[in-house]
Amino acid sequence: MIEKKPAVLVTGGAGYIGSHAVLALLDAGWPVVVIDNLSTGFAWAVPEGATLAEGDIADSALVASLIGEHGIGAIMHFAGSVVVPDSVADPLRYYENNTVKSRALIASAVKGGVRHFIFSSTAATYGIPEKIPAAEEDRTEPINPYGWSKLMTERMLKDAAFAHPLNFGILRYFNVAGADPAGRSGQSTRGATHLIKVAVEAAIGKRGHVDIFGTDFDTPDGTGVRDYIHVSDLAAAHVHVLERLIESPDESLLMNCGYGHGFSVLEVLNAVDRVTNAPIERRPAPRRAGDPPALVADNRRILSTLDWRPQRDDLDTIVTDALRWERLLAERGIG
Ligand code: UFG
Repeated sequence: MIEKKPAVLVTGGAGYIGSHAVLALLDAGWPVVVIDNLSTGFAWAVPEGATLAEGDIADSALVASLIGEHGIGAIMHFAGSVVVPDSVADPLRYYENNTVKSRALIASAVKGGVRHFIFSSTAATYGIPEKIPAAEEDRTEPINPYGWSKLMTERMLKDAAFAHPLNFGILRYFNVAGADPAGRSGQSTRGATHLIKVAVEAAIGKRGHVDIFGTDFDTPDGTGVRDYIHVSDLAAAHVHVLERLIESPDESLLMNCGYGHGFSVLEVLNAVDRVTNAPIERRPAPRRAGDPPALVADNRRILSTLDWRPQRDDLDTIVTDALRWERLLAERGIG
């Protein structure tokens, strides 16, 4: 148990995963300050109880003042650009948002004496994994600028932690989906591209069909396979990592966050049909640039290191929660 919980600065706390992490922190009694430039997030998505500073993570003066005023003891860094195909089309924007700005944030952490840094990394760092499931020590050879932009930040963080009094938790997320089971947050991104979000939008009639990007991959049914993790389980993992970093200041962590089993695009769409009891229209489409055939986590490290255990490891549960949020957004006329 940590006696005195310091305030946590959450970058991107107005976004999808960040807002769920804020909920998990607040639920566990941590004071939270969010910094978000609201480029893709929404002020209303910042949970009540957290303080929102609207601004850029690379604005060192702003970050320094937040660290000083709120006594920030740890940073959870979610802010960034997350769409793989966009990173192929506009790589320099990805290196700017994900790498260059992260460098500035890490520098602010070091300068401000923040001792703990948790970073949202990605399974995209593996590229086409040398084996499935992919383990943390496996080769990292991204096949798109998004993966590289995150891998470079991992490197900076490791080097900075070696040189300065800082420990880190690097979490490599697999495919994050679902929404807060209590309906307090969810994925609200406009023009979403992520499969489960797109599929539940189709299920409620917000789009006419779902494209299946590639039907000739070397996978059991020819469609892409991913390891879908519920966003609330992922958020809970962050709180566990934070506690560990504070309790063991000389230790840093690098961990996959996934359930350790994959589902194909067709299996996901079938789950959505099952949950709604109505079929969504599927259309075969060409592969997307930068998409690997399969990505599944070897999650033994997180399970053996932390007390964290998945609570919502079930595709239909993930889809049910995502769908509930999508209906709420529609009722509120958002998105
Ligand atoms: N897909 C479709 N149709 C769609 C959307 C997606 O067939 O309309 C397919 C993709 O081709 C892929 C799978 O569904 O096979 C998942 O695609 P997503 O766009 O949902 O997610 P990605 O796997 O491309 O990327 C996500 C995150 C990244 C992360 C990566 C790691 O966006 O941040 O997972 O697996 F790095």
